[in-house]
Amino acid sequence: MHPLWYRNAVIYQVDVAFFLDSNGDGWGDLRGVTERLEHIRGLGANCIWLLPFYASPYDDGGYDVTDHLTVDPRFGDLADLAMLLDQAESLGLRVIVDLVPQHTSIQHHWFQEARHDRRSPYRDYYVWADEPEETGVEPVFPTVEDSVWAWDEEAQQFYRHTFYDFEPDLELGNPRVREEIRRIMAFWLRMGVSGFRIDAVPYMIERARAADPRDDGYWLLAEMREHAAMHHPDAVLLGEVDVPPEQYADYVGGPDRMSMSIDFWTNNFTFLALAQEKSEPLTRALGRRPRPHPHSQYAVFLRNHDELDLEQLSSEERDHVLERFAPQEEMRAYGRGIRRRLAPMLDGDPRRIAMAHALLMSLPGAPVLLYGDEIGMGEDLSRPERKAVRTVMQWTDGQNAGFSLAPPEQLAAAPISSGPFGFERLNVAAQSCDRRSLLAAVSHLVRSRLGAEEIGSDACAVLETGVPSVLCLSHGTGSHRLITAVNLADEDVTCELSDTELSGLVDVLSDRPYPSPDDEPTKFVLGGYGYRWLRRRDEPFTGQDFASTRR
Ligand code: BGC
Repeated sequence: MHPLWYRNAVIYQVDVAFFLDSNGDGWGDLRGVTERLEHIRGLGANCIWLLPFYASPYDDGGYDVTDHLTVDPRFGDLADLAMLLDQAESLGLRVIVDLVPQHTSIQHHWFQEARHDRRSPYRDYYVWADEPEETGVEPVFPTVEDSVWAWDEEAQQFYRHTFYDFEPDLELGNPRVREEIRRIMAFWLRMGVSGFRIDAVPYMIERARAADPRDDGYWLLAEMREHAAMHHPDAVLLGEVDVPPEQYADYVGGPDRMSMSIDFWTNNFTFLALAQEKSEPLTRALGRRPRPHPHSQYAVFLRNHDELDLEQLSSEERDHVLERFAPQEEMRAYGRGIRRRLAPMLDGDPRRIAMAHALLMSLPGAPVLLYGDEIGMGEDLSRPERKAVRTVMQWTDGQNAGFSLAPPEQLAAAPISSGPFGFERLNVAAQSCDRRSLLAAVSHLVRSRLGAEEIGSDACAVLETGVPSVLCLSHGTGSHRLITAVNLADEDVTCELSDTELSGLVDVLSDRPYPSPDDEPTKFVLGGYGYRWLRRRDEPFTGQDFASTRR
């Protein structure tokens, strides 16, 4: 396979706990994921991202790891993972897994030994202080934790925790900790995974920088990438990097940085554009986003398993998105974000949800989809914090939404029942039989994205259409050029291009049949929430290039 496969991957994010329960204990498991690989392949995705399935008390969705080298028994065992990887490979699906090297669970034996004994070699695995110190790091969940320091009675010191107080920060400046991380990476790469989604990367760099200011701490990324490549030449490192775009080049600007980074910046402006029904926020955002190194790529997304964190917007812009998509206080989280799924934010309107996916698929980068968004699943606001968006996959209108045969009180999460997002009405089985369903539209978009490598190329330019609600992009150059147009509003429009002619151009994808632009080569029409992708050949590249800060 191509060593730069990730530049055009479509990644499907699976929460193992909530996907499919194969043994009736109420929790989704690895065998359940294996049973439903055909669904993911059918959708068109070619890479799966498995959320943490490691041994864990599961107080933070498995990101509170007690053993990075073990499968939590509720999710199965290593043989189940081997089987999953085997089957995935036979379907042409790659699998990446979460790597959580920024902290552990407080119950991890490293921390237990560290707190018992100051002289333990594990003591320096964590960040300790006699008094809370100013390290420039603020609590990530400010409405839950008011400090990053917690007193440990047994250790008689404070330990630092950027996230919850049950997740002490690892001291990545300690070479022994980095050696542990390398062992963990080698283990899973040997098992056959194609790489890692790496949790909380900027906080790892902060520790690396504090220990060794060389290369501003980014030497840690070089170290990790080299190590991954040693075990698996085309392994991907997909970083969770929620920083302003001016810092993006630090993470994907060179061959010795991350192979991919999750693009929170463009995500925020996508929601601002959806809220305003205008393309301007997105053209502004794309214009400020540096090009990644040719061996790197951005991962673009709509929703993920966390809150929709709107911190990259100005406070006015954020308020606008919050008012539009999370009008009630209970829909918000941590004073900065939204704990809702995509579909309810877009009023459950399948046309609009499909349009949002068309928008995602046309953004330069590799798209990531959250399980369940392909059928328009809703959220359960009775669940605390981010758990609202982590509910069981709705497979059928049968018992427990087809997720599990366990008694309801044993389920990892209750299925969303009744109402427009209830499993009785909204499920995979029903949508699979309906060629006008959201699932059909999203699958078509995903498969079209796989055939549209121009979008993953570095050449993307905004085309002016004279219509504020339309985002029109030109991808690729010369004979490999694709034009994508998406209408963010519900009114039919006629677009007029100022510097591009569309004669000889054909629709390769559209939400409905459109007249060919041949008669009037500078004009094209789009229905309300409509989209179309047009391909032409032998056309010189025009438009405003995102000439930006390539390192
Ligand atoms: C994950 C969260 C998790 C946090 C702490 C993240 O960024 O996406 O779900 O709570 O890291 O591990």
